[in-house]
Amino acid sequence: MKKKVLVTGGCGYIGSHTIVDLINNGFEVISADNFSNSDVSVLKGIQKITGQSVKNYNTDLCDLKATQKIFKTHPDIVGIIHFAALKAVGESVEQPLRYYKNNLLSLLNILECVETFKIKNFIFSSSCSVYGNAQALPVTEKTPRQNAESPYARTKQVGEDMIADFSLVHHWCNCVSLRYFNPAGAHESALIGESSRNIASNLVPVITETAMGKRAETVVFGNDYPTRDGSCIRDYIHVMDLANAHTKALQYVINEKNTSNNELFNLGIGEGVSVLEAVHAFEKTTGKKLNYRIGLRRPGDVVAIYANNDRAKRKLGWTPTRSVDAIMESAWAWEQQRN
Ligand code: WQD
Repeated sequence: MKKKVLVTGGCGYIGSHTIVDLINNGFEVISADNFSNSDVSVLKGIQKITGQSVKNYNTDLCDLKATQKIFKTHPDIVGIIHFAALKAVGESVEQPLRYYKNNLLSLLNILECVETFKIKNFIFSSSCSVYGNAQALPVTEKTPRQNAESPYARTKQVGEDMIADFSLVHHWCNCVSLRYFNPAGAHESALIGESSRNIASNLVPVITETAMGKRAETVVFGNDYPTRDGSCIRDYIHVMDLANAHTKALQYVINEKNTSNNELFNLGIGEGVSVLEAVHAFEKTTGKKLNYRIGLRRPGDVVAIYANNDRAKRKLGWTPTRSVDAIMESAWAWEQQRN
């Protein structure tokens, strides 16, 4: 009998790629996604890749009654992977209350359902932005969290704290928070990829849209930082490696390998790549010359951050296998075929 998992935000970028990996690893998946930042066409892509059609509930998770209906319909859900959230850093600075309400109320409702319907396994989509401007690199899960640089990052810090408090009371529930570094790239089929409703602000889609002629240029936000080439450093992780980490984390708690009922894991590849190095990796991998220029720094950017991922490797048995070149190759393939 296949184990049934609820993926919230299942039509989003990381959610859809995770559903593919879960199905490939024998799970039955249902999704809850209200398409506020995704498109129903993603479900077709998942079906073409896996041969499975995934049932999606177009549910606003800020509506507790509507959310409870999913669990009443599916009493056999063994785990939840909670992706659904607004995640545009810049937008969160302009619309803090919208971000606090959406990201925290939806998490609150999901946790209430975990409690009511006794869902024993809960995976939360967190972010490396909880570290803020980390003083020492690479960051480990024990690196103190600095002040959040944006309301988005603060919803992830508060989310982790809500889960920690919840897990202290409900010892029967195994909780894991996964701190993503910079997800990028697309499934090798180019049938799914990064395509939020918002105008792309993340570096890799900005690069591929520039190469496609959808935007005139890529602006490198500053080359006067104290780094090896003056541009900011990040830990870019291929979205399929990130997806597999979710499957591994779910198996980790379902098989009760966890040593506490609230664990944190860094999900990065463990090396830093600068913006200019990323641009050059795109040009080398695709053979396309990119039209870019150096611009002003972007407020809120941290200078450098990359992961120590030893804990995820050791405890989850997870190893990222794809390089920045593979990210650029798959992101470019996706950009070329998407409408
Ligand atoms: C990366 C680097 C920019 C665009 C955010 C969230 C993080 C996670 C990933 C969800 C920075 C530079 C970018 C451009 C540029 N989101 N850049 N020109 O800000 O590191 O992280 O997305 O989990 O939580 O904080 O990602 O891709 O926006 O920027 O020079 O047009 O690329 O300055 O140094 P970021 P990003």
